[in-house]
Amino acid sequence: MSDEQTEFLAPNFMNPIRLGLIGCGMIVGHHVTSYGEIYETVPGLFEVAAASDLDSERAENIAAKIGSFQSSKPVTYTDYKEMLEKEELDAVSVATPHFAHHQPSIDALNKGLNVVVEKPFAITIKAGLKMLQAVKKNNRILACAEPMRRSVGNRTIDWAINRAGLIGEPRFFFYQHARFSLGVVVGTPWRHQKLMSGGGWVHDGEVHYIDFLRMVFGDVAEVYAKIRNFETTRYLDTQNWKNPVPSDVEDTAFAILTFESGLLASFTWTHAATGKPLDIVRYYGSEGSLDNEGVLSKSGEYTPMSELENKFMESITAKEKEKFFPHGMTNPSAIAFYNFFDSIRTGEKPEISGEDAFAAQAICEAVYESDACGQAVRMEDVISGRFNAFQREIDERWNI
Ligand SMILES: NC(=O)c1ccc[n+]([C@@H]2O[C@H](COP(=O)([O-])OP(=O)(O)OC[C@H]3O[C@@H](n4cnc5c(N)ncnc54)[C@H](O)[C@@H]3O)[C@@H](O)[C@H]2O)c1
Repeated sequence: MSDEQTEFLAPNFMNPIRLGLIGCGMIVGHHVTSYGEIYETVPGLFEVAAASDLDSERAENIAAKIGSFQSSKPVTYTDYKEMLEKEELDAVSVATPHFAHHQPSIDALNKGLNVVVEKPFAITIKAGLKMLQAVKKNNRILACAEPMRRSVGNRTIDWAINRAGLIGEPRFFFYQHARFSLGVVVGTPWRHQKLMSGGGWVHDGEVHYIDFLRMVFGDVAEVYAKIRNFETTRYLDTQNWKNPVPSDVEDTAFAILTFESGLLASFTWTHAATGKPLDIVRYYGSEGSLDNEGVLSKSGEYTPMSELENKFMESITAKEKEKFFPHGMTNPSAIAFYNFFDSIRTGEKPEISGEDAFAAQAICEAVYESDACGQAVRMEDVISGRFNAFQREIDERWNI
């Protein structure tokens, strides 16, 4: 390691941060690529010391992949608690199904470890609050491995709206996605069972976008929503319509979000729209509109997104560049893990802390709770548990 890199490490972490994995499923295959990228870019920053999964083959498979770029292969376990007992770890990454985010995170925090957890932060509000309590009690870092806001394109949108002021004062936006799919999401049946997933795509997928929205527009104050589940059977094999999987989570959500700033959003997501698909994401302000193609000002001046991205990259300082794209990395998932390791070294708050990830998750819960109670809900009433009709059976099932 060069002197420069040695200086770079905080005294407590002169040695690599020792990471343990909890869950070695689909997404961890992608995490491994990010770990490899960081390992090569910042040698000595971390090493994956151990990997656990209920399925020993999955843990072995991930450990073998990591062993191909690290000096040693991680030790594997089928019980994460045994891993926490036996290994000298500094941190864990939790990438289990949603019903199993809170307990492993809390157990690791109570052992004095730092935690990076996959999105959505927790399966319910109560589970998320318990995780935040464990962070406070143990004074450790809890970050979320949320990648979406970290891409060049999404940093450019944030810059165009908030720094360059290209649409003026934001007024409202449309986020409409409608298509048809009977597939099982990512081939994982648990995602279609409310008690395991905590909800459908709003909770699982749109939470990415909601985190991005919070970065750009701040917090949501109120949510009014309707959800439906039109297609209650999904198929693992959509080529031959075989291996049916029952689904009791939404395939359709319509919502009106009112931000604390007064900004209005019309939000629709459905996988039950037969025929022609619809995809529009467009932000409107007092001076023009912005979408992923570019900006159109009210006087008719058009700037394409490629030009905006160049302007954004040219306008940021070297310090900002290092913050957004550390060591020149542009892979959003690698940046997320790097930010976690960097927070452990420096003690600085990760960009997406537990509180941030919880706030994004809570907006998703508000969609379900608004539908369940048939009225608009304020965020504080969802977080306080005043509205919990949708989540109650999940909390009961997992004794949360
Ligand atoms: N950031 C992203 O873009 C992204 C993409 C996909 C998934 N995810 C998130 O990653 C997480 C995992 O999703 P996935 O698609 O990899 O699911 P998956 O079902 O493929 O993998 C989950 C793994 O966790 C294991 N597991 C379950 N309980 C466990 C326990 N108590 N101890 C150890 N292992 C346990 C399972 O055996 C399985 O191998 C979810 O939170 C999901 O939302 C994030």
